[in-house]
Amino acid sequence: MHIYSHKFCVAPMMDYTDAHFRYFLRQLSKNIFLYTEMVSCDAIIHGNREKLLKYNPAEYPTALQIGGSSVEKMTEAAIIGEGFGYDEINLNIGCPSPRVQKGNFGACLMSDASLVSKIISALKKRVKIPVTVKCRLGIDDQDIDKELPVFMNAIIGSGVDLVIVHARKAILSGVSPKENRTIPELNYDAVYQIKEYASDTEIIINGGINSLSEIYNHLKYIDGVMLGRKIINDPMFLLEVDEKLFLSGRENHNFKRIIENYSDYADFQTSLGTSRSQLIKPIVSLFNNKPNAKKWRRGLDNYRSNNCSALDYINELYASSVEGIEFNTDTYS
Ligand SMILES: Cc1cc2nc3c(=O)[nH]c(=O)nc-3n(C[C@H](O)[C@H](O)[C@H](O)COP(=O)(O)O)c2cc1C
Repeated sequence: MHIYSHKFCVAPMMDYTDAHFRYFLRQLSKNIFLYTEMVSCDAIIHGNREKLLKYNPAEYPTALQIGGSSVEKMTEAAIIGEGFGYDEINLNIGCPSPRVQKGNFGACLMSDASLVSKIISALKKRVKIPVTVKCRLGIDDQDIDKELPVFMNAIIGSGVDLVIVHARKAILSGVSPKENRTIPELNYDAVYQIKEYASDTEIIINGGINSLSEIYNHLKYIDGVMLGRKIINDPMFLLEVDEKLFLSGRENHNFKRIIENYSDYADFQTSLGTSRSQLIKPIVSLFNNKPNAKKWRRGLDNYRSNNCSALDYINELYASSVEGIEFNTDTYS
Protein backbone atom coordinates (compact mmCIF):
# COMPACT_ATOMS: atom_id res chain seq x y z
CA MET A 1 0.00 0.00 0.00
CA HIS A 2 1.45 3.38 -0.90
CA ILE A 3 0.05 6.83 -1.30
CA TYR A 4 2.53 8.48 -3.64
CA SER A 5 2.29 8.40 -7.40
CA HIS A 6 5.12 6.55 -9.18
CA LYS A 7 3.91 7.60 -12.60
CA PHE A 8 7.25 9.34 -13.13
CA CYS A 9 10.30 8.34 -11.10
CA VAL A 10 13.89 9.57 -11.25
CA ALA A 11 16.27 6.61 -11.10
CA PRO A 12 18.71 5.98 -8.27
CA MET A 13 22.14 6.96 -9.61
CA MET A 14 25.34 6.59 -7.63
CA ASP A 15 27.34 9.82 -7.40
CA TYR A 16 24.40 11.81 -8.79
CA THR A 17 21.11 11.48 -6.94
CA ASP A 18 22.51 12.70 -3.64
CA ALA A 19 20.61 15.04 -1.31
CA HIS A 20 21.59 18.15 -3.35
CA PHE A 21 20.54 16.68 -6.68
CA ARG A 22 17.25 15.59 -5.17
CA TYR A 23 16.66 19.02 -3.65
CA PHE A 24 17.17 20.62 -7.06
CA LEU A 25 14.97 18.09 -8.89
CA ARG A 26 12.18 18.67 -6.40
CA GLN A 27 12.19 22.37 -7.33
CA LEU A 28 11.45 21.32 -10.92
CA SER A 29 8.47 19.12 -10.09
CA LYS A 30 6.45 18.36 -7.01
CA ASN A 31 4.87 15.37 -8.74
CA ILE A 32 7.79 13.09 -9.49
CA PHE A 33 9.03 10.35 -7.16
CA LEU A 34 12.71 10.38 -6.19
CA TYR A 35 15.23 7.68 -5.24
CA THR A 36 18.49 8.00 -3.37
CA GLU A 37 21.71 6.49 -4.66
CA MET A 38 22.19 2.94 -3.41
CA VAL A 39 23.52 2.76 0.15
CA SER A 40 24.75 -0.62 1.38
CA CYS A 41 23.20 -2.00 4.55
CA ASP A 42 26.68 -2.22 6.09
CA ALA A 43 27.28 1.49 5.45
CA ILE A 44 23.92 2.31 7.04
CA ILE A 45 24.63 0.18 10.09
CA HIS A 46 28.30 1.08 10.61
CA GLY A 47 28.83 4.36 8.70
CA ASN A 48 28.14 8.02 9.32
CA ARG A 49 24.35 7.89 9.25
CA GLU A 50 23.80 11.62 9.55
CA LYS A 51 25.89 12.14 6.42
CA LEU A 52 24.57 9.16 4.45
CA LEU A 53 20.90 9.38 5.32
CA LYS A 54 19.99 12.91 6.34
CA TYR A 55 16.57 13.51 4.83
CA ASN A 56 15.55 17.02 3.89
CA PRO A 57 11.73 17.28 4.09
CA ALA A 58 11.93 19.54 1.01
CA GLU A 59 12.72 16.50 -1.15
CA TYR A 60 9.62 14.51 -0.06
CA PRO A 61 8.60 11.97 -1.29
CA THR A 62 11.83 9.99 -1.67
CA ALA A 63 12.76 6.30 -1.43
CA LEU A 64 15.93 5.09 0.19
CA GLN A 65 17.58 2.45 -1.96
CA ILE A 66 19.50 -0.14 0.02
CA GLY A 67 21.79 -2.97 -1.07
CA GLY A 68 22.72 -6.14 0.75
CA SER A 69 21.85 -9.79 1.14
CA SER A 70 21.69 -10.48 4.86
CA VAL A 71 18.08 -10.60 6.05
CA GLU A 72 19.06 -9.30 9.49
CA LYS A 73 21.24 -6.44 8.25
CA MET A 74 18.78 -5.38 5.55
CA THR A 75 16.01 -5.30 8.17
CA GLU A 76 18.15 -3.21 10.51
CA ALA A 77 19.09 -0.83 7.66
CA ALA A 78 15.45 -0.45 6.61
CA ILE A 79 14.34 0.35 10.16
CA ILE A 80 17.08 2.99 10.40
CA GLY A 81 16.07 4.44 7.00
CA GLU A 82 12.43 4.65 8.05
CA GLY A 83 13.54 6.44 11.20
CA PHE A 84 15.27 9.09 9.09
CA GLY A 85 11.95 9.86 7.39
CA TYR A 86 12.21 8.12 4.01
CA ASP A 87 8.93 7.31 2.33
CA GLU A 88 9.83 3.92 0.85
CA ILE A 89 12.59 1.31 1.10
CA ASN A 90 13.79 0.07 -2.28
CA LEU A 91 15.93 -3.03 -2.65
CA ASN A 92 18.68 -2.95 -5.25
CA ILE A 93 18.47 -6.22 -7.19
CA GLY A 94 19.90 -4.78 -10.39
CA CYS A 95 23.43 -3.53 -9.85
CA PRO A 96 25.97 -5.67 -11.72
CA SER A 97 29.20 -4.09 -10.40
CA PRO A 98 32.00 -6.48 -9.35
CA ARG A 99 32.16 -4.82 -5.91
CA VAL A 100 28.46 -5.45 -5.33
CA GLN A 101 28.74 -9.03 -6.67
CA LYS A 102 31.55 -9.64 -4.23
CA GLY A 103 29.12 -8.75 -1.43
CA ASN A 104 26.63 -11.17 -3.04
CA PHE A 105 23.94 -8.59 -3.66
CA GLY A 106 22.57 -6.43 -6.49
CA ALA A 107 21.75 -8.20 -9.77
CA CYS A 108 23.18 -11.56 -8.71
CA LEU A 109 20.19 -11.91 -6.36
CA MET A 110 17.99 -12.34 -9.46
CA SER A 111 19.02 -16.00 -9.23
CA ASP A 112 17.96 -16.29 -5.58
CA ALA A 113 14.26 -15.45 -5.48
CA SER A 114 13.89 -17.24 -2.18
CA LEU A 115 16.44 -15.00 -0.41
CA VAL A 116 14.93 -11.83 -1.92
CA SER A 117 11.50 -13.00 -0.74
CA LYS A 118 12.82 -13.61 2.76
CA ILE A 119 14.27 -10.08 2.86
CA ILE A 120 10.98 -8.58 1.68
CA SER A 121 8.91 -10.58 4.20
CA ALA A 122 11.24 -9.57 7.03
CA LEU A 123 11.12 -5.87 6.06
CA LYS A 124 7.36 -5.91 5.66
CA LYS A 125 7.03 -7.12 9.23
CA ARG A 126 9.31 -4.42 10.63
CA VAL A 127 8.70 -1.20 8.66
CA LYS A 128 5.44 0.61 7.94
CA ILE A 129 6.57 2.30 4.72
CA PRO A 130 6.31 0.48 1.37
CA VAL A 131 9.02 -2.02 0.42
CA THR A 132 9.82 -2.07 -3.28
CA VAL A 133 12.32 -3.76 -5.60
CA LYS A 134 14.37 -2.49 -8.55
CA CYS A 135 15.56 -5.40 -10.68
CA ARG A 136 16.57 -6.48 -14.15
CA LEU A 137 14.95 -8.97 -16.54
CA GLY A 138 17.46 -11.57 -15.45
CA ILE A 139 21.18 -12.25 -15.44
CA ASP A 140 23.57 -13.95 -17.85
CA ASP A 141 21.94 -16.91 -19.57
CA GLN A 142 18.76 -16.99 -17.47
CA ASP A 143 15.71 -17.79 -19.57
CA ILE A 144 13.49 -14.69 -19.24
CA ASP A 145 10.32 -16.55 -20.24
CA LYS A 146 10.75 -19.22 -17.59
CA GLU A 147 12.75 -17.67 -14.75
CA LEU A 148 11.44 -14.10 -14.62
CA PRO A 149 7.84 -15.13 -13.77
CA VAL A 150 9.20 -17.39 -11.00
CA PHE A 151 11.18 -14.47 -9.54
CA MET A 152 8.25 -12.05 -9.88
CA ASN A 153 5.68 -14.43 -8.39
CA ALA A 154 8.00 -15.11 -5.45
CA ILE A 155 8.54 -11.45 -4.58
CA ILE A 156 4.90 -10.57 -5.15
CA GLY A 157 3.94 -13.50 -2.89
CA SER A 158 6.11 -12.10 -0.14
CA GLY A 159 4.29 -8.78 -0.26
CA VAL A 160 6.47 -6.43 -2.34
CA ASP A 161 4.59 -3.16 -2.83
CA LEU A 162 5.90 -2.20 -6.28
CA VAL A 163 8.51 -3.44 -8.75
CA ILE A 164 10.72 -1.35 -11.01
CA VAL A 165 12.20 -3.30 -13.90
CA HIS A 166 15.24 -2.12 -15.83
CA ALA A 167 14.20 -3.64 -19.14
CA ARG A 168 17.41 -5.50 -19.91
CA LYS A 169 19.40 -8.36 -18.45
CA ALA A 170 22.62 -7.83 -16.53
CA ILE A 171 25.77 -9.60 -17.63
CA LEU A 172 27.82 -10.36 -14.56
CA SER A 173 31.26 -10.96 -15.99
CA GLY A 174 33.32 -9.29 -18.69
CA VAL A 175 30.99 -6.28 -19.01
CA SER A 176 31.43 -3.12 -16.94
CA PRO A 177 28.53 -1.52 -15.01
CA LYS A 178 28.47 1.25 -17.62
CA GLU A 179 28.33 -1.21 -20.53
CA ASN A 180 25.62 -3.07 -18.64
CA ARG A 181 23.43 -0.01 -19.28
CA THR A 182 23.78 -0.30 -23.06
CA ILE A 183 25.02 -3.70 -24.25
CA PRO A 184 22.29 -6.10 -23.08
CA GLU A 185 19.42 -5.18 -25.36
CA LEU A 186 16.29 -3.49 -24.09
CA ASN A 187 13.18 -5.65 -24.06
CA TYR A 188 10.17 -3.54 -23.10
CA ASP A 189 7.71 -6.28 -24.10
CA ALA A 190 9.08 -8.51 -21.36
CA VAL A 191 8.14 -5.82 -18.79
CA TYR A 192 4.67 -5.36 -20.28
CA GLN A 193 4.19 -9.12 -19.96
CA ILE A 194 4.95 -8.97 -16.23
CA LYS A 195 2.07 -6.53 -15.87
CA GLU A 196 -0.20 -9.04 -17.64
CA TYR A 197 0.36 -11.82 -15.09
CA ALA A 198 0.91 -9.49 -12.12
CA SER A 199 -1.91 -7.06 -12.82
CA ASP A 200 -2.48 -6.24 -9.12
CA THR A 201 1.12 -5.13 -8.56
CA GLU A 202 2.37 -1.73 -9.62
CA ILE A 203 5.08 -2.19 -12.25
CA ILE A 204 7.42 0.63 -13.31
CA ILE A 205 9.50 0.42 -16.48
CA ASN A 206 13.07 1.73 -16.77
CA GLY A 207 15.80 1.87 -19.37
CA GLY A 208 16.54 4.09 -22.36
CA ILE A 209 13.47 6.34 -22.05
CA ASN A 210 14.14 9.83 -23.41
CA SER A 211 10.96 11.59 -24.50
CA LEU A 212 7.37 12.35 -23.58
CA SER A 213 6.08 10.36 -26.54
CA GLU A 214 7.94 7.26 -25.32
CA ILE A 215 6.53 7.87 -21.83
CA TYR A 216 2.94 8.13 -23.10
CA ASN A 217 3.43 4.91 -25.00
CA HIS A 218 4.77 2.97 -21.98
CA LEU A 219 1.93 4.27 -19.83
CA LYS A 220 -0.54 2.44 -22.08
CA TYR A 221 0.82 -0.85 -20.71
CA ILE A 222 2.45 -0.07 -17.41
CA ASP A 223 1.90 1.98 -14.22
CA GLY A 224 4.88 4.30 -14.36
CA VAL A 225 8.23 5.13 -15.89
CA MET A 226 11.66 5.69 -14.37
CA LEU A 227 14.28 7.83 -16.11
CA GLY A 228 17.94 8.10 -15.21
CA ARG A 229 20.52 9.45 -17.64
CA LYS A 230 18.01 11.68 -19.45
CA ILE A 231 17.55 13.63 -16.19
CA ILE A 232 21.30 14.00 -15.57
CA ASN A 233 21.78 15.32 -19.09
CA ASP A 234 18.63 17.42 -19.35
CA PRO A 235 17.06 18.22 -15.96
CA MET A 236 14.87 20.91 -17.55
CA PHE A 237 12.94 18.06 -19.17
CA LEU A 238 11.20 17.74 -15.80
CA LEU A 239 9.46 21.06 -16.35
CA GLU A 240 7.93 19.63 -19.51
CA VAL A 241 6.99 16.45 -17.63
CA ASP A 242 5.39 18.48 -14.86
CA GLU A 243 3.42 20.59 -17.30
CA LYS A 244 2.34 17.95 -19.79
CA LEU A 245 2.20 14.68 -17.85
CA PHE A 246 0.95 16.10 -14.55
CA LEU A 247 -0.88 19.11 -16.00
CA SER A 248 0.79 21.27 -13.38
CA GLY A 249 0.31 25.01 -13.76
CA ARG A 250 3.03 27.09 -15.36
CA GLU A 251 3.22 29.30 -12.28
CA ASN A 252 5.34 26.50 -10.75
CA HIS A 253 7.91 26.79 -13.50
CA ASN A 254 9.57 30.11 -13.04
CA PHE A 255 13.09 28.97 -13.76
CA LYS A 256 14.71 32.18 -12.59
CA ARG A 257 13.09 31.62 -9.20
CA ILE A 258 14.15 27.98 -9.16
CA ILE A 259 17.78 29.04 -9.73
CA GLU A 260 17.47 31.68 -7.00
CA ASN A 261 16.14 29.06 -4.55
CA TYR A 262 18.90 26.66 -5.43
CA SER A 263 21.60 29.35 -5.10
CA ASP A 264 20.23 30.23 -1.69
CA TYR A 265 20.34 26.55 -0.76
CA ALA A 266 23.93 26.29 -2.10
CA ASP A 267 25.04 29.20 0.11
CA PHE A 268 23.48 27.53 3.13
CA GLN A 269 25.14 24.22 2.25
CA THR A 270 28.60 25.75 1.75
CA SER A 271 28.23 27.35 5.19
CA LEU A 272 27.80 23.77 6.50
CA GLY A 273 30.95 22.65 4.70
CA THR A 274 29.46 21.02 1.56
CA SER A 275 31.86 21.20 -1.39
CA ARG A 276 31.03 23.48 -4.30
CA SER A 277 31.78 20.63 -6.72
CA GLN A 278 28.92 18.64 -5.21
CA LEU A 279 26.61 21.64 -5.33
CA ILE A 280 27.12 22.49 -8.99
CA LYS A 281 26.69 18.91 -10.20
CA PRO A 282 22.86 19.07 -10.38
CA ILE A 283 22.87 22.24 -12.50
CA VAL A 284 25.96 21.83 -14.69
CA SER A 285 24.06 20.44 -17.69
CA LEU A 286 21.19 22.94 -17.62
CA PHE A 287 22.16 24.62 -20.85
CA ASN A 288 23.31 21.50 -22.72
CA ASN A 289 22.53 21.83 -26.43
CA LYS A 290 21.83 25.54 -25.98
CA PRO A 291 24.00 28.41 -27.24
CA ASN A 292 25.52 29.36 -23.87
CA ALA A 293 26.28 25.87 -22.58
CA LYS A 294 30.04 26.46 -22.48
CA LYS A 295 29.71 29.86 -20.85
CA TRP A 296 27.50 28.37 -18.13
CA ARG A 297 29.83 25.42 -17.46
CA ARG A 298 32.94 27.65 -17.43
CA GLY A 299 31.14 30.09 -15.12
CA LEU A 300 30.25 27.28 -12.70
CA ASP A 301 33.88 26.16 -12.78
CA ASN A 302 34.85 29.66 -11.63
CA TYR A 303 32.26 29.49 -8.87
CA ARG A 304 33.80 26.21 -7.75
CA SER A 305 37.23 27.74 -7.29
CA ASN A 306 36.07 31.08 -5.83
CA ASN A 307 34.77 32.14 -2.47
CA CYS A 308 31.80 34.09 -3.84
CA SER A 309 28.19 33.72 -2.80
CA ALA A 310 26.10 31.49 -5.05
CA LEU A 311 23.15 33.85 -4.71
CA ASP A 312 25.12 36.69 -6.32
CA TYR A 313 27.26 34.73 -8.71
CA ILE A 314 25.01 31.96 -10.04
CA ASN A 315 22.02 34.27 -10.54
CA GLU A 316 24.10 36.70 -12.55
CA LEU A 317 25.61 33.84 -14.55
CA TYR A 318 22.12 32.50 -15.18
CA ALA A 319 20.85 35.90 -16.37
CA SER A 320 23.69 36.22 -18.87
CA SER A 321 23.53 32.57 -20.00
CA VAL A 322 19.80 32.68 -20.63
CA GLU A 323 20.06 35.79 -22.81
CA GLY A 324 18.90 35.25 -26.36
CA ILE A 325 17.64 31.72 -25.73
CA GLU A 326 14.19 30.94 -27.01
CA PHE A 327 12.42 28.58 -24.63
CA ASN A 328 9.22 26.91 -25.61
CA THR A 329 7.51 28.51 -22.63
CA ASP A 330 8.05 32.01 -21.29
CA THR A 331 7.96 30.78 -17.70
CA TYR A 332 11.52 29.47 -18.04
CA SER A 333 12.88 32.98 -18.10
C1 LIG B 1 25.83 7.10 -13.02
C2 LIG B 1 24.81 6.02 -12.74
C3 LIG B 1 24.71 5.49 -11.47
C4 LIG B 1 23.76 4.50 -11.18
N1 LIG B 1 23.60 4.06 -9.89
C5 LIG B 1 22.57 3.21 -9.59
C6 LIG B 1 22.26 2.87 -8.23
O1 LIG B 1 22.88 3.35 -7.28
N2 LIG B 1 21.22 2.00 -8.03
C7 LIG B 1 20.47 1.47 -9.06
O2 LIG B 1 19.53 0.70 -8.83
N3 LIG B 1 20.74 1.79 -10.35
C8 LIG B 1 21.75 2.65 -10.63
N4 LIG B 1 21.95 3.04 -11.92
C9 LIG B 1 21.06 2.53 -12.98
C10 LIG B 1 19.88 3.48 -13.18
O3 LIG B 1 19.09 3.57 -12.02
C11 LIG B 1 19.02 3.02 -14.38
O4 LIG B 1 18.51 1.74 -14.10
C12 LIG B 1 19.80 2.94 -15.68
O5 LIG B 1 20.62 4.09 -15.86
C13 LIG B 1 18.85 2.80 -16.89
O6 LIG B 1 17.98 3.92 -16.95
P1 LIG B 1 18.23 5.12 -18.01
O7 LIG B 1 18.41 4.48 -19.37
O8 LIG B 1 16.99 5.95 -17.93
O9 LIG B 1 19.47 5.84 -17.57
C14 LIG B 1 22.91 4.02 -12.22
C15 LIG B 1 23.01 4.58 -13.50
C16 LIG B 1 23.93 5.57 -13.76
C17 LIG B 1 23.99 6.18 -15.14
